[in-house]
Amino acid sequence: MALIIDGRKISAQIKEECKEQVAAYQARGIEICLAVVQVGSDPASSVYVNNKKKACAYVGIRSLSYELDETVTEEELLQLVDRLNNDPAVNGILVQLPLPAHIDENKIIRAISPMKDVDGFHPYNVGALSIGLKGFVSCTPAGVIQLLKRSGIEIAGKNCVVIGRSNIVGKPMSMLLLRENGTVTVTHSRTKDLQEITSKADILIAALGKPKFITKEYVKEGAVVIDVGIHRNAENKLCGDVDFEDVKEKVSAITPVPGGVGVMTIAMLMCNCVASVEINERA
Ligand code: GUN
Repeated sequence: MALIIDGRKISAQIKEECKEQVAAYQARGIEICLAVVQVGSDPASSVYVNNKKKACAYVGIRSLSYELDETVTEEELLQLVDRLNNDPAVNGILVQLPLPAHIDENKIIRAISPMKDVDGFHPYNVGALSIGLKGFVSCTPAGVIQLLKRSGIEIAGKNCVVIGRSNIVGKPMSMLLLRENGTVTVTHSRTKDLQEITSKADILIAALGKPKFITKEYVKEGAVVIDVGIHRNAENKLCGDVDFEDVKEKVSAITPVPGGVGVMTIAMLMCNCVASVEINERA
């Protein structure tokens, strides 16, 4: 019987730990404040942003909300980021992505102070991760590491295969697994013989963005399978990149969708907000 890794339980534990740390800071007169910026009113982004603000309220972090019109100019958004960078009361800045096409996302990410970049998207933090320096780490891959560690799954020396090479998940995921002494292979849409590679993985991370793509033929007997994908099928039900029912009998541990990796992202954002207090001091 495979272990079904319970992301809801683990994320709740992490949020409780953050709540305690926030309370300890409050007792020392330190308030943590996250600025959340949303441009336009994309319904999916609104759901994410609201969930982030709710999590802040739960753990005791103050959130400042900036809801900008779809027509805001790049220059105006850069000015807001600059103001937040220079506001000592603001510890973290999060600009919800995607941004409208007339705004250069990379320019905005680079404008956020690396010391307030709680998403871990700034090139400084990406670089810091790759050379083992302290910094903010992208929330979703950081959440995967917590799922593995808190489920007692050893990473050191394991054959880890990551499917996907996005800047937000695949690349930082591979760096984090390497930092945990995994032997890491990164695969992507141009990889030849994907099945040949994935079927040798002790730990398989699926972040390729194709619903139920990973069937039992891709998976080694007894492997640990982590599903980063999230899709809505024709019946409006959520599913991941992994065909859970097909794979679950073959593996030793697996994350479900929903209730696996997805719920970890916001918990790790809360950890980054707590960490921001110390990281701000390096500015
Ligand atoms: N859009 C989808 N996921 C994310 C995220 O983790 N951070 C930001 N800023 N935007 C997103």
